[in-house]
Amino acid sequence: MPNIISTKQFKKSEVEKLLALSALMEKACLLESKKGGKKNKIKACLEDKIIACIFFEPSTRTRLSFETAALKLGAKVISAENAGISSSAYKGETIEDTTRMLCSYADAVVMRHPRAGTAEAAAKVATKPIINAGDGANQHPSQGLLDLYTIKKKHKRLDNLTITFVGDLLNSRTLHSLVPLLNMYKNNKFNFISPKELKLDSAFTNDLKNKKIKFVESENLDEVLGSTDALYMTRVQKERFARAKDYEKVKDSFILKVQHLKKMKKDAIIMHPLPRVNEIEIGVDADPRAAYFRQAENGLWVRMALLCYALGI
Ligand code: NCD
Repeated sequence: MPNIISTKQFKKSEVEKLLALSALMEKACLLESKKGGKKNKIKACLEDKIIACIFFEPSTRTRLSFETAALKLGAKVISAENAGISSSAYKGETIEDTTRMLCSYADAVVMRHPRAGTAEAAAKVATKPIINAGDGANQHPSQGLLDLYTIKKKHKRLDNLTITFVGDLLNSRTLHSLVPLLNMYKNNKFNFISPKELKLDSAFTNDLKNKKIKFVESENLDEVLGSTDALYMTRVQKERFARAKDYEKVKDSFILKVQHLKKMKKDAIIMHPLPRVNEIEIGVDADPRAAYFRQAENGLWVRMALLCYALGI
């Protein structure tokens, strides 16, 4: 069954197919939204299907874009937000039992949970495809793919790029999903900029070393701005800190300001999975390189493609 648990599960050929299908979805939706535009057949793709969305962590973009994607493809949606208190999980039901139930109602289950490994645990008992919409600090595959789609749309290639990640790298599931995808392509280099408390886990960097991937870890953003093709800002993940004072100490470590922009390449792209808290000054939004809202929009096409993939359509 085509569960979508981690970006590491994909072969490069599958990723390429998903990117192409996402582009097709974008084109079809844009054509349809034009006044007098021809009605196309996307509404028939998931006709009669039901998609369950169950979120144990807050979400704006991921949940609502998955639901929109399902509706645009003609499916119906059942949804539980705040599932930690609104579902029977609150009474102590296990994720396995909840999953069994959802699979008896819906044709696919989109799930977000604060605990790493939950989507995989759900997939073990599921009789329908499970789509991981974020499991703790581990993985967020649909975000990784929409990030890849965004980079490709801008640079028209996915190789020979320098990508700079900034902020809470330790807890960023979006980074954990995007880097393995970028590693499918040749000659990409990474700068990992973070306070030392939020550096990438050594297991992650050791894996990069073993694969002979070029990367630099540092606390100096200014130094790498001029060579960066994609600047990927991240939010410090407050919800992953055990003590408020540890969060307070690092929360504003890196803020992208208007004054930084002049150091950046003309054709660079500024990304952020959103929500933004303090990491990017509002003034940056007016710069044409600021791509984060376009990036979030791309999520719709990619999630349409992923729903089709999971349902074998
Ligand atoms: C991200 C997430 O949930 O991991 N948000 C998202 O899905 N676009 C990033 C974040 O919450 O900081």
